Amino acid sequence: MKKIRLPLGRASYTIVIGSRVLSAAGARIKALGAGTDAIIITNSRIARLYAAALKSSLARQNISSRIILVPDTERAKSIDMARRILERIAARDTLRKTFIIALGGGVVGDLAGFVASLYKRGIPFVQIPTTLLAQVDSAIGGKTAVDLPIAKNLAGTFYQPRIVLSDVDVLASLPRRQIANGLAEIIKYGVIKEAALFAYLERNFPGILGRDRRMLAHIIDRSSRIKAAVVAKDEYDVKGVRAILNFGHTIGHAIETASGYSGRYTHGEAIALGMIVASDIALALGIMALSDRNRIEALIRNCGLPTLMRGVQLSDIKKAFLHDKKFTNRKNRFVLPTKIGSVRIVEGIPEKIIIDALKARRAP
Ligand SMILES: NC(=O)c1ccc[n+]([C@@H]2O[C@H](COP(=O)([O-])OP(=O)(O)OC[C@H]3O[C@@H](n4cnc5c(N)ncnc54)[C@H](O)[C@@H]3O)[C@@H](O)[C@H]2O)c1
Ligand SMILES: [Zn+2]
Repeated sequence: MKKIRLPLGRASYTIVIGSRVLSAAGARIKALGAGTDAIIITNSRIARLYAAALKSSLARQNISSRIILVPDTERAKSIDMARRILERIAARDTLRKTFIIALGGGVVGDLAGFVASLYKRGIPFVQIPTTLLAQVDSAIGGKTAVDLPIAKNLAGTFYQPRIVLSDVDVLASLPRRQIANGLAEIIKYGVIKEAALFAYLERNFPGILGRDRRMLAHIIDRSSRIKAAVVAKDEYDVKGVRAILNFGHTIGHAIETASGYSGRYTHGEAIALGMIVASDIALALGIMALSDRNRIEALIRNCGLPTLMRGVQLSDIKKAFLHDKKFTNRKNRFVLPTKIGSVRIVEGIPEKIIIDALKARRAP
């Protein structure tokens, strides 16, 4: 069992990582005094697997609970879904102290956090992330969101959970592609901050893909620490500190947009491509060694993530990228690696270098 404290003054909270965390959730929530009536927001796939264990753990602490199911798709992150959940909570609000538990991946977590921040101007919120991506990224840091038709995550709030409970056992049922999805963010943490984590992934990727619990706990712990440390310095993402977390995301987002969120690429796959292209750009600018670029590429491939783009038009990526740029009204801005474990923010990169890097990563 590992514990990380995220220091945010009165909003400080603990991230718990380990085995059998889910079945002990009730006792931890009770100790926090988060509430006595839990609204568990989840989807039917996750509910089938894990809701009974959570409910009985809560019941043992005399915490009542009910489940609100949302569709198992990114489309659940909508204003309309948030409204429907708010109305359901309001219709059955009792004299007990209501709080919300997000039991699921990033979709459930972003939506549940959004609702928790709005109901009565904010009720306590517990994150129980069940995907590797949610455990190392979306459940930590307090960004909640729903999507608007024009762009993802456009409506949201900053609202910290009271605790994050990351149970490595639940990753046993996660499809391999979803493990790889989370691994992309973990590779990102290695490149931006921790060469030792990167090297650990290089040595242990077969075991990790095989869902070795001890290895998973180790990389979730290291990643959560990095994310927590960055968030602690810049809770509201206004100081530029969180910017390094965008390594691979500038191009990655453009690839996601260009593929129309069609499901061709998971977020992790898109940012894996984004990390490769950023590394190629760093190489072209002469700020990183070829050997480091090659290590990044090899690890991404070994983790079952793509290193070449298929089925996305370069012109669409360019369009999405330029639109993003217009949106932020700035020169282009990239987080580029200088070596494994360290990055630099570079602005105003000549467009030709970016386009050439993208072209070189088209599958033949
Ligand atoms: N708030 C943030 O800071 C932040 C950061 C990164 C991503 N996000 C958001 O996170 C979302 C993506 O999250 P995700 O990658 O977790 O995807 P997801 O929530 O869609 O989950 C992926 C799939 O895995 C299934 N699943 C979840 N847990 C499972 C388990 N234990 N066993 C079997 N199946 C399981 C889900 O039902 C779903 O089908 C996006 O909406 C993205 O915008 C938010
Ligand atoms: Zn990401």
